[in-house]
Amino acid sequence: MKVCAIGIGYVGLVTGVCLAEIGNTVFCVDKDEKKIEMLKKGRVPIYEEGLEELIKKNSKNGNLIFNNDISNAIRESDIIFICVGTPPLPSGKSDLSAIDEVAGLIGKSINGYKIISNKSTVPIGTAKRIKKIISENRGSGNNYDFDIVSNPEFLKEGEAVKDAFFPERLVIGSKSKKAIEVMKELYKPIINQDFDYAVNNTHRKEKVPVLITDSTSSELIKYSSNAFLATKISFVNEIANICERVGANILDVTYGMGLDSRIGAGFMKAGIGWGGSCFPKDVRALSHTAEEYGSTANILNSVIQVNNHQRFKVIQKAMSVLGIIDDKIIGVLGLSFKPNTNDTREAPSVTIINKFLELGAEVRVYDPVVKEYPKDMDEGAVMARSAYDALEGADLMVLVTEWSEFSSLDFKKIKKSMASFNIIDGRNILDRHKLQEMGFNYTGIGY
Ligand code: UDX
Repeated sequence: MKVCAIGIGYVGLVTGVCLAEIGNTVFCVDKDEKKIEMLKKGRVPIYEEGLEELIKKNSKNGNLIFNNDISNAIRESDIIFICVGTPPLPSGKSDLSAIDEVAGLIGKSINGYKIISNKSTVPIGTAKRIKKIISENRGSGNNYDFDIVSNPEFLKEGEAVKDAFFPERLVIGSKSKKAIEVMKELYKPIINQDFDYAVNNTHRKEKVPVLITDSTSSELIKYSSNAFLATKISFVNEIANICERVGANILDVTYGMGLDSRIGAGFMKAGIGWGGSCFPKDVRALSHTAEEYGSTANILNSVIQVNNHQRFKVIQKAMSVLGIIDDKIIGVLGLSFKPNTNDTREAPSVTIINKFLELGAEVRVYDPVVKEYPKDMDEGAVMARSAYDALEGADLMVLVTEWSEFSSLDFKKIKKSMASFNIIDGRNILDRHKLQEMGFNYTGIGY
């Protein structure tokens, strides 16, 4: 089929590449000329395992076309994927201006039956909003038919390519039987797992379940999934705080809970809370939707509150270890909101570092991939070249992101260079017993 992905961020790029790899012609379009020029030269703005080689291969065989001509891509395509950003406004509401702009353009460019498949995470009712804008923008006499589909994306940063090829479910929300059949046809190789691309020579063993529903339920599936995962983490962090009070061990508690298949072992890691480009914005947006429709999302509001407090647990712990923070040297390990990505959006690291700076600490920070100073991080932190550099002469080490290289640091070497041997492990990944035996003052989260 001929398809286009409008908006080449994480979702648009990975979706476009995946659909090209399974044999479609895909126009990847964006109004950001610089980004398109980069991609045309084979340079990829985000790091995702496997992505660069898939882009090279599919650009070469003509399945993947990058350009800025959005109207032309709309005219050429049978299916149009909307993949633009929906950033939060200060109120928590999603900013839909990019969606509206694309919908307007589709209305102006439509030249035959089209399916408009929305992959952006959008508030409830956006499918109807897109339909209205397209209809309003079709010129007089232009009665070309179109259908709207809500087709949310569940990919995780750092595992986006794998998630696109081997998803745990596909959700298709639409009233139109015709559109649903075309979408199922498009995704057939993914549903049946019979395409060539494989990771470690394997595919999913079972077919991918496809859920057909209405667009509103589909939009809510996306929000509720992210909100539930965020809830699970905030719940576990609250239990971790109780563990600290009563002297229990969160690692054993979550392990014991996770053995119950109704609870499940995933997303049970206690730490300094969730961040990133999705959870914070989506939980806020869902709470906002509840308010808009006359309901109050009490649980979601608490989930956000627990998460905001959790970051400051590190500061409290630092205060109880160091006393006054002013003039202390603190080595922070990790900037990205989670490992295997260079994304620092809403990262706990930034909040924590800003607070240390405000309290007068000298902060040195090291991240294996983040080399640019995050724009919302206050001035004054030093970007170190290695974990060892960050910890030279430090009074405290704070581990913020669980990058694998931090588990295998040479702590003998570190002990020789730190001024005081204090460690706060915000992700519970270090070997507490070994470090205590070595003479470190180790503090984890919830044990
Ligand atoms: C998330 C959803 O998982 C994905 O389905 C959706 O499409 C986008 O949002 P992502 O933001 O890439 O993906 O990150 P994820 O791996 O889900 O982690 C989110 C946050 O939760 C991170 O800050 C992570 O550190 C934190 N987390 C995760 C925990 O604190 N504990 C856990 O057990 C798991």
